[in-house]
Amino acid sequence: MRAMQRTVPKDIAGIPLVGLGTWDLRGRTCARMVEQALRIGYRHIDTADMYDHERDVGAGMRAAGVGRENIFLTTQVWPSHFAPRELERAAKQSLSRLGLAQVDLLLLHWPNPEIALSDTLGALCNVKRMGLARHIGVSNFTVALIEQAVKLADEPLVCNQIELHPFLDQGRVIAACRSHGMAVVAYSPIARGGAKNHPVLARIGKAHGKSAVQVSLRFLVQQGIAVIPRTSRVERLSENLAIFDFELSQTELAEIAALTGRDGKVVDYSYSGSPQWD
Ligand SMILES: NC(=O)c1ccc[n+]([C@@H]2O[C@H](COP(=O)([O-])OP(=O)(O)OC[C@H]3O[C@@H](n4cnc5c(N)ncnc54)[C@H](OP(=O)(O)O)[C@@H]3O)[C@@H](O)[C@H]2O)c1
Repeated sequence: MRAMQRTVPKDIAGIPLVGLGTWDLRGRTCARMVEQALRIGYRHIDTADMYDHERDVGAGMRAAGVGRENIFLTTQVWPSHFAPRELERAAKQSLSRLGLAQVDLLLLHWPNPEIALSDTLGALCNVKRMGLARHIGVSNFTVALIEQAVKLADEPLVCNQIELHPFLDQGRVIAACRSHGMAVVAYSPIARGGAKNHPVLARIGKAHGKSAVQVSLRFLVQQGIAVIPRTSRVERLSENLAIFDFELSQTELAEIAALTGRDGKVVDYSYSGSPQWD
């Protein structure tokens, strides 16, 4: 497959605006998708210790033949590992599975109400100072938690990774992130496939010679938000990356923004302390 473009634009934290989401990819499929994505121009890969495939992600990165310095690799620590010593151990184990000396971004995967945020953030900052992570950040943090976290952290928190797509209004969280100079990374940016056949997105896409999914992704990146669509199909990798050669008008942006519903979430999960994964 040919490389589509040389550079993917980056957001305020230097995070490439399109990354490959990898949740649910396993074994050789996972390694192959990471490898192919990097070969065609992706420079940002999103994984997590909970996804149980960091070895495959590392294998895909090595097979791609793209210099390590050209890849922005994010991994996430599961909340059951948020006690300070546990967090450091979890970060080291992720690095060992990935076969890397350092990740570009290490996130707290979900807030954990059972462990003091100050302890967890202290450990996260320490992991950064040890050189295990180039940047640190959070995921699934609410406005209130962002405010607490930025006060407690003595290293910059560069991003909050949140569920975000045209059907979900996260305006307050985005505003809070921006007020603290934090980037927003959108997970489930095509609403787990829900954007695919949406009539408004499809109509707007048709006017630009693009698919509804590409409109969903463009809507976010045009606001400076990074997206990490996941696919298990090689042919969709290029579709999800080809979103930098068209521009949505203000009217189209407003029309898409109006698609948000009261119950737009597609990820029906919140960490409650139950040991779903360990
Ligand atoms: N931090 C967190 O708590 C959190 C939570 C959820 C997800 N994430 C991250 O965000 C990533 C993306 O989110 P997600 O996996 O929930 O959802 P998503 O990326 O919005 O959607 C993935 C679904 O869309 C389909 N798809 C992908 N490209 C397509 C295209 N061009 N046309 C039509 N369908 C397409 C995929 O099917 P095919 O495989 O058949 O293409 C898959 O079923 C995850 O993989 C993970 O890395 C993080």
